[in-house]
Amino acid sequence: MIKPPLKDAAAQTSHASQPWLHQHGRQIQAFGSVRQFPLALSHDTRMFSCERLNQMLADTQILYSLYKKHHWLMRGATFYQLHLLLDKHAGEQIGLIDEIAERVQTLGGVAVGDPRHVAEITRVPRPPNGCEEVPAMLSRLLEAHELILIDAHEAAKRTAELGDDGTNDLIVSNIIRTNELESWFLVEHLVDTPLVRA
Ligand SMILES: [Fe+2]
Repeated sequence: MIKPPLKDAAAQTSHASQPWLHQHGRQIQAFGSVRQFPLALSHDTRMFSCERLNQMLADTQILYSLYKKHHWLMRGATFYQLHLLLDKHAGEQIGLIDEIAERVQTLGGVAVGDPRHVAEITRVPRPPNGCEEVPAMLSRLLEAHELILIDAHEAAKRTAELGDDGTNDLIVSNIIRTNELESWFLVEHLVDTPLVRA
């Protein structure tokens, strides 16, 4: 069989199926802005909700990372129980992350996503790079939960006043309830109770 000349072979690789690689473009929406969506919510209300949601989103992403870090670094007599519990909570927090981020998008905003951007926004204190004692790890998680809860209660009140019922519902039904329940499961591990004899 005679091979086609080189220029015909090139023509057979259709331009229509060649991906356009290494593309760069301008930013089309700034972080901290909201687009106009027909949601019966004012621009200012959606701006307020997005700002508060992005704060909770950043703090929740850090809490998720703290859960994974402590899941990995866990040790001691209750290793297996806490190793599993912290991973379960991490899974629940990652569910929250998606719900909060998609609420920001629903309101026309831009959700904080890049972990380096998250680190600039969060107020959750940075842990040491090494390993802390187990009760200190649990306390650190509890404090992160409470920081989010303080913010969530205040944001729930304000979003209700502004008429953003969807955001209020997300904050109350998902963020507050999940963080409260996880706090309970953690705090019971800090009760100094005898294991064998009363
Ligand atoms: Fe794991």
